[in-house]
Amino acid sequence: SVLSPQVIDHSVKVARHYNSLQEVGLAARSRSRIFFMRNFNNWLKSILIGEVLEKVRGAGSQQVSVLDLGCGKGGDLLKWRRGGINHLVCADIAAVSVDQCESRYDDMKKKSYANEKIYSAQFISADCTKVEPQHLDQLTEVEP
Ligand SMILES: C[S@@+](CC[C@H](N)C(=O)[O-])C[C@H]1O[C@@H](n2cnc3c(N)ncnc32)[C@H](O)[C@@H]1O
Repeated sequence: SVLSPQVIDHSVKVARHYNSLQEVGLAARSRSRIFFMRNFNNWLKSILIGEVLEKVRGAGSQQVSVLDLGCGKGGDLLKWRRGGINHLVCADIAAVSVDQCESRYDDMKKKSYANEKIYSAQFISADCTKVEPQHLDQLTEVEP
């Protein structure tokens, strides 16, 4: 009824949608209608990440760990590398995206300079609206 609206769980739908998105290469991305908007969005995020890390370090933290809720396919991995963080926890409802994120991280690590210390990382497939952050790694996956 209008007074007691049904609570609909969209998590499976959301996971299915993001899981079905294909990862496309740079060439295909540059032909996208939102190419410039995406670049702007990425630039803005880099600035924000830089500012926040500066604040965190200014407050005395030497070791920086980041919890990236909704990490997707790892679009921000390079930003965290540039930020010089120590540890990254990547969580997303879409298990396929989390797998791609992990491969991307492994690739980034392989291609890094021998003397460069890349942050360690953990990858978790979970609905982040349903769990306390400290329990994230005890979760089961959302079925595709
Ligand atoms: C617009 S994408 C952003 C991906 C990534 N942060 C990036 O910038 O490339 C939003 C992401 O949020 C994830 N997401 C949506 N609802 C979620 C939930 N309840 N728990 C965890 N992840 C969720 C989606 O699966 C998707 O990967």
